[in-house]
Amino acid sequence: MSGLCHTQCYSEELGGILPTPTLRGVKAVLDQRLVVITGKGGVGKTTVAAAMGLAAARAGKRTVICEVAEQERITQTFGRPPAGFRETEVAPRLHAFSINPEDAKEEWLRRQLRSGALTGLLGASHVYQYLTAAAPGLTEVVTIGKVWELAQLERRTSGASPYDLTIVDAPATGNGMALLRAPRTYSQIARVGPIGRHAGVIDAFLSDPASTAVVAVALPEEMPVNETIDLERRLSEELGRELTQVLVNGVLPGRLSAAEVKEIEAVDGAGSPPAREALTVALSAEARARHQRSQVARLRRRVGARVATLPFIVTPELELEGLEALSREIERKL
Ligand SMILES: Nc1ncnc2c1ncn2[C@@H]1O[C@H](COP(=O)(O)OP(=O)(O)O)[C@@H](O)[C@H]1O
Ligand SMILES: [Mg+2]
Repeated sequence: MSGLCHTQCYSEELGGILPTPTLRGVKAVLDQRLVVITGKGGVGKTTVAAAMGLAAARAGKRTVICEVAEQERITQTFGRPPAGFRETEVAPRLHAFSINPEDAKEEWLRRQLRSGALTGLLGASHVYQYLTAAAPGLTEVVTIGKVWELAQLERRTSGASPYDLTIVDAPATGNGMALLRAPRTYSQIARVGPIGRHAGVIDAFLSDPASTAVVAVALPEEMPVNETIDLERRLSEELGRELTQVLVNGVLPGRLSAAEVKEIEAVDGAGSPPAREALTVALSAEARARHQRSQVARLRRRVGARVATLPFIVTPELELEGLEALSREIERKL
């Protein structure tokens, strides 16, 4: 497990302690080639992907946010029409791209058969049906393969420029594990042959903590915390890799000290219902914040990954302004 490692290196040959603490195996999340954002639906994955993209672009990185979802949201957030399977700039240095398996499959087939016309003649979906029947999981490999392609310095897409950072908003099902696991499963089934070999290359890239960061977004609640603990275990067992970072999203501020809570509880508000109501609201908000803090603490105890929190932002629908605020937090904490 990598982590901040302030080792003092003893070396008799060098005559003692080397003075500088060394950073081993630690690379800032935004300095990797690919960041995979995982987590169950509704925890804030898309929001975090967008905010992280903003932070990276602001730091001067040519960035692409890649959604693997039925519904495209990133472009809409930036007030742009849907990009679909086209790399589209939505803000300076920030691009959006949306993968659905159908598009990924078409592109892959075209490339495999080396001619768009030939694909049409053979009946692309027919060929593909045979292939997927023979090798289940091909669609996931092709989808994550497109993500891999976006993250390469040498792009296979003709005329495409490389990105400094690719951020993928993984689908909610199975915490994104299915997508991360697909190349390994495939390459184990198809050990020989070009697709199997390519799946092996993708797997190596996804499993390497020096090229791919896996970030779990969680809410400070019991179930999402359990799921995150489980995700880290599965990443280790099934992919032999670590979880890079947990972002606990939507954390409420605690405003009251324990002494203040006691004082408020002791107030007899019988004479003033509005005051009583306000105090009750304050106490219940504080209780929620406390519960959240205890869940964050539990998460910190139970995972090896770094854990950072992101605040709950009060806006009706997270507009750009809210995203900016979150992106500053990400900049500060990652
Ligand atoms: N830090 C936050 N503060 C307030 N609202 C948030 C925050 N993060 C996400 N949301 C809101 O929560 C909802 C779910 O977020 P979303 O990013 O779509 O989750 P996911 O992609 O995991 O399904 C959205 O309405 C979003 O605007
Ligand atoms: Mg989403």
